[in-house]
Amino acid sequence: MPALVLLGAQWGDEGKGKATDLLGGSVDYVVRYQGGNNAGHTVVVGDQKYALHLLPSGILSPGCVPVIGNGVVVDPSVLLSELSGLNERGVDTSGLLISGNAHLITPYHTEVDKVTERFLGKRKIGTTGRGIGPAYADKINRVGIRVQDLFDESILTQKVEAALDFKNQVLAKLYNRRAVRTEQIVEELLGYADALRGYVADTTLILNNAVDEGKVVLFEGGQGTLLDVDHGTYPFVTSSNPTAGGACTGSGVGPTRISRVIGILKAYTTRVGAGPFPTELLDADGEALREIGGERGVTTGRDRRCGWFDAVIARYATRVNGLTDFFLTKLDVLTGWERIPVCVGYEIDGERIDELPFSQSDFHHATPVYEYLPGWSEDITKAKSFSDLPKNAQGYVKAVEEMSGAPVSAIGVGPGRDETIQINSFL
Ligand code: GDP
Ligand code: IMO
Ligand code: MG
Repeated sequence: MPALVLLGAQWGDEGKGKATDLLGGSVDYVVRYQGGNNAGHTVVVGDQKYALHLLPSGILSPGCVPVIGNGVVVDPSVLLSELSGLNERGVDTSGLLISGNAHLITPYHTEVDKVTERFLGKRKIGTTGRGIGPAYADKINRVGIRVQDLFDESILTQKVEAALDFKNQVLAKLYNRRAVRTEQIVEELLGYADALRGYVADTTLILNNAVDEGKVVLFEGGQGTLLDVDHGTYPFVTSSNPTAGGACTGSGVGPTRISRVIGILKAYTTRVGAGPFPTELLDADGEALREIGGERGVTTGRDRRCGWFDAVIARYATRVNGLTDFFLTKLDVLTGWERIPVCVGYEIDGERIDELPFSQSDFHHATPVYEYLPGWSEDITKAKSFSDLPKNAQGYVKAVEEMSGAPVSAIGVGPGRDETIQINSFL
């Protein structure tokens, strides 16, 4: 079982941080392969709560090597403050490895992210404002700055100059902002070089060697399947590939080395930012899910939009990721409803469909077709095995499993590490 991927099966915030942390003690490497500090992963260990944005959640497990892969975009100031925050709390971060090929988020990326959103007005994406999209845009445009550039002042200066040539025109002429000076950016970036140098490594070589030696490598996705720039609800997506294929391009480990792909699936659905969401609830049930589930963003503090479980989306996630397992999280949040609606298909212009429509306009018109499952009122947070769950909670899990197309191998019944029912081992 050398390499496995753990990713979000919905629109993010499914509980990936908790799931990664849970496995952290039994794996050798935990790798972030895409995204940046747009992610917000909460991990609860005993009475301690950690909010991680850029660092892989495995950083909290001693003996597990955390890796930031080439597919990640790194804001160096955020990285250093996250590291020092953990150090102050006694977490040893010295083992961190960062790919020299990862791209940097610079102050002009954050600025462009914010002004673009402002100018989009009511058509905005609702980004996290962390410079993610503009940094990936520069990467694809071949004017990005990579981590390794921090260690060659002359190359760094040339690259920042090339990137700003165009961007300053846009900032000044289109957005009426002050142009950014190359020297100022270079000086700021060089200021991070010494602190980061010791972490930078050929992570692709290290990870492939690790797999060769039979070490266990866990790839931790940020965001989720429906936020994927190719397979998500474009344009209301992030600018990277959280889906399983992204683990390969974002790390340099090939698909034949990956043996398991675990989809983290919330027992209901949430979304942050703009975009279609067929099962969204704008009523008291939606408010109740938000309150009971604590559905407020870890990164931006925004209220998350809440809705019932959508099996069409879960099936889609199984397909585009080749999921082998689900980790069903937050089942405890559904305790107390007399009956629980589950979306089993959509109606679009009077027609019933069972798969995610490939046309954006159709998806915007989709209304959910619900089946109603009987609820339960017993507290399930102390359940340790599947048989400890009330019959109707067992029925809910079984129904989700059947509709979604992959076995539910673990169930979350609370935020803590030990509030988990493990049905099949992931390793
Ligand atoms: P991530 O972005 O996928 O890592 O998820 P977030 O950390 O943004 O949001 C998930 C939230 O749910 C966090 O506050 C977790 O502590 C919490 N959580 C995770 N699993 C469970 C669970 O099974 N039950 C409950 N009640 N909370 C959970
Ligand atoms: P985790 O890893 C939920 C959303 C933003 C916005 C869109 C694009 O905690 O699950 P971006 O800043 O990435 O350009 O914003 O993607 N988004 C997330 N939503 N969880 C996340 O991460 C997210 N990261 C980005 O709200 O709609
Ligand atoms: Mg999150």
